[in-house]
Amino acid sequence: MKRFRVRPGGPLRGIARVPGDKSIGHRALLFGALAEGRSLVRGLSGGLDNASTATAMQKMGARYEIANGVARIDGVGLDGLRMPDGAIDCGNSGTTMRLLAGVLAAQKFGTRLIGDASLTRRPMRRVVEPLRARGAHIAGVRGAKEGEHYPPLSVAPLIEGERLSALEVRTEVASAQVKSALLLSGLWADGPTAIAEPTLSRDHTERMLVALGAPLEAFGAMCVLDPSRWETRRFPAFEWTVPGDISSAAFLVAAAAMVPGSEIEIEGVGVNPTRTGFLDALRGMRAHTETVPRGDAAGNEPVATLHVLHGSLAPTRIGGEMIARMIDEVPVFAALATAAHGRTEVRDAEELRVKESDRIATMAEVLRAFGGDAVELQDGLTIHGGRGLRAAHVESRGDHRIAMSAVVLGLVAEGETLVDDVDCVDTSFPGFAALLRSLGADVREELVGSDA
Ligand code: S3P
Repeated sequence: MKRFRVRPGGPLRGIARVPGDKSIGHRALLFGALAEGRSLVRGLSGGLDNASTATAMQKMGARYEIANGVARIDGVGLDGLRMPDGAIDCGNSGTTMRLLAGVLAAQKFGTRLIGDASLTRRPMRRVVEPLRARGAHIAGVRGAKEGEHYPPLSVAPLIEGERLSALEVRTEVASAQVKSALLLSGLWADGPTAIAEPTLSRDHTERMLVALGAPLEAFGAMCVLDPSRWETRRFPAFEWTVPGDISSAAFLVAAAAMVPGSEIEIEGVGVNPTRTGFLDALRGMRAHTETVPRGDAAGNEPVATLHVLHGSLAPTRIGGEMIARMIDEVPVFAALATAAHGRTEVRDAEELRVKESDRIATMAEVLRAFGGDAVELQDGLTIHGGRGLRAAHVESRGDHRIAMSAVVLGLVAEGETLVDDVDCVDTSFPGFAALLRSLGADVREELVGSDA
């Protein structure tokens, strides 16, 4: 097992690039499998979560050659998937499981989707119920919460002559994984898929569907996919470059905003407005950040260079629609709040309780371990920032974003911090520690336990 050893040190300085966006990577790999012919995807992160999606689609007939962040994909077309040999392992990746549930619900062969211990605790009713409502034969197993469906998910085949029906849903939570599962299932349905979310979640699937010529229309937090208006009913092969992951960049941005004397630039970062809540929150803290537009990448995704300077931070309050636009950045935002003099509040973020860990409880514990003043609320946290932090020995709970947030805290805490159980960082941000070191941070990786 790996551990990080972190010491506070000099400023972070320099120019960096972060690995490719995880969400966009999943979708590019998936659409490559459903397209006809050879597609090319550049800029992939090399993270394990994206690899889970590629391996799954490979089991159903698509072919992938992936090296140095470039995937060459031989797609099988919309009607070319075949029954996999055995269960499909989604690893730690909720996006893989939920998106695939949508694809597989529409097939004429049965499948089983399994995952690791963390994924097996995550709720799946949110995809199971609407897919059933349109005629899919899908079920999870019982678990901690009455009436919930948990992985493994079993999907029975549609029988001869059976097709998924039209669907009109209003989702309870803004979830791009749920929305994407339903849109994907809608590619094979015999009527439109209309989805209304409470607020707009990340819209990468919609942008890609439009880029590939599918008949999708979006208006605010609603979208409609109507396959009857799709004459070709095929995805052409494509060449896309995945932009840098703003959710990974957030750790560097937070570190630079907190460590005195820092000044960094991060190039090629995806700044889709459904993902930039963290940058807005930084502005609310009066942090010195600047976003310089640099054109578009994969499937109509805007890209920018981010500049960040250390400076004093003001406390702020985040909640409402902003949460969906920074859902994965809330842990590192909470870390950042320890440097803002006064009370910062995070509300409306209950979804964090069903991520790779219960991120509200875990982050509150981690902040307190560093001497931070954090109070856990049902739907968020309050953090009283501005007092100095002391080094801590903490555990990631197998959650990559908790591990990296703890490293950011370690860069400003007095003494030597240890963060245990950090292999999970490779799910989204391979090379995280090395990249921080290249900017001047004192972060080392070491093996512990039976791996040492
Ligand atoms: C993702 C959507 C979000 C996010 C996850 C990736 C996606 O999850 O937290 O890391 O790629 O669609 P939800 O859809 O559960 O909000």
